[in-house]
Amino acid sequence: MHNDLKEILITEYEIKTRLKELGVLISEDYKVKFPLLICILRGAFLFLADLIREIKIPLSIDFMAISSYGGKTESNGEVKILKDLDTYIEGRHVLIIEDIVDTGLTMDSVTRLLKTRKPKSLKICTLLDKVERRRIKVNIDYFGFKIPNKFVVGYGLDYEEKYRNLPYIGVLKEEIYRGGNNNT
Ligand code: IMP
Ligand code: MG
Repeated sequence: MHNDLKEILITEYEIKTRLKELGVLISEDYKVKFPLLICILRGAFLFLADLIREIKIPLSIDFMAISSYGGKTESNGEVKILKDLDTYIEGRHVLIIEDIVDTGLTMDSVTRLLKTRKPKSLKICTLLDKVERRRIKVNIDYFGFKIPNKFVVGYGLDYEEKYRNLPYIGVLKEEIYRGGNNNT
């Protein structure tokens, strides 16, 4: 797996350090709010798992699976809910936990959908923010790292379901992603 990477962009240590900082911020901002953290599957599962251990206040979690249609390495904005929440979110302080915001189309649809369910507040926490690629404005309340326009894998992020188990984030060699698939 490691040989399929061109470079390591974010090390295991850098992720751990940044998650501690995010944990402090979120613990402070959501003190006494009993937030519901919604993990967007599958990419954000490791991020959620490590992040919540840095959050020192009561919280609950739920999961939502989305598929973005589009080319092999980008979405085209149509999202389909593959697994919906089990939790009733009206009146709750909701924090979406996402792996990466790229064009922004996925987070735009997800937030529009969740707003119809009347949460008391709705914010986004993404591990990675590929700012240059944004096609629609998305308000990101917490981010781990801003990254350049490169296709990355590892720490939950995949290419064709591979590489999620790498403990760091790396840039995939371009020759690996010729051929198509989705972005789930
Ligand atoms: P968006 O709708 O374009 O913002 O894309 C969101 C989704 O595309 C993310 O949740 C990822 O699943 C996927 N994605 C975007 N960029 C990357 C990347 O560099 N590596 C892996 N997945 C990505
Ligand atoms: Mg995703």
